Amino acid sequence: MVSLSVVEGGYPPVSVPGIAHETDGIGVRMRPVAEPDLAMFRRFCTEPGLIGLDWGGFRDPGAPVRRFAVDGWLGTEDGRLVVEAGPDATAAGFVSYRAGQYAPRATYWEIGIALLPQWRGRGVGWRAQALLCDYLFAYTPVQRIQAGTHPENVPEQRSLEKAGFRLEGVVRACEFRAGQWRDGYLYSRLRDDPSPWD
Ligand SMILES: CC(C)(COP(=O)(O)OP(=O)(O)OC[C@H]1O[C@@H](n2cnc3c(N)ncnc32)[C@H](O)[C@@H]1OP(=O)(O)O)[C@@H](O)C(=O)NCCC(=O)NCCS
Repeated sequence: MVSLSVVEGGYPPVSVPGIAHETDGIGVRMRPVAEPDLAMFRRFCTEPGLIGLDWGGFRDPGAPVRRFAVDGWLGTEDGRLVVEAGPDATAAGFVSYRAGQYAPRATYWEIGIALLPQWRGRGVGWRAQALLCDYLFAYTPVQRIQAGTHPENVPEQRSLEKAGFRLEGVVRACEFRAGQWRDGYLYSRLRDDPSPWD
């Protein structure tokens, strides 16, 4: 398990400490949502396709402000953290977590990610998802973290594999997207699976 170091900074400047990891000279940080980030979250609600293949139509742009006011997006059942990258610790997107349950004592996390287009393909996505796994395994007792993606989302498939996830299989007709029901790919990483940093 990698040790999680605490950093401060961010652009737009936020005084929220976060956790960071650097490999091969590429640093990725993760921190709680702060007020200046809400503009980015509003964009994901209203700019068609900005969020990627998960775009499901226009969403209430006031929802991010209301959710932030409730719990800073740090819920015990679901939440979001901002991903920062680059020398200025720029807000590059976000990661999310949501609790699921297969049996009474078998809860797991389902994670997600969306980076702004200018930050894609630069090694940020897999590092952010690996960092989120470290965080969730360090501070919650779950055995399993899962992530679903689209058959055509090759960047996310590669990103999950690089973050230590394995493909479990095809979940048939699990989402209605762009006019039809579509299959998804389910990936998972278990607590004891090899760390991608090693
Ligand atoms: C999917 C996403 C998180 C991936 O993160 P990323 O930072 O772009 O990906 P990385 O730079 O970490 O790349 C990880 C691997 O994928 C490969 N990859 C990245 N973009 C690629 C592309 N367009 N085509 C093929 N491979 C690609 C990289 O080459 C790398 O593999 P390599 O080291 O073997 O070369 C990011 O592109 C994104 O936010 N996309 C929009 C939202 C989205 O699709 N979220 C997931 C929904 S399920």
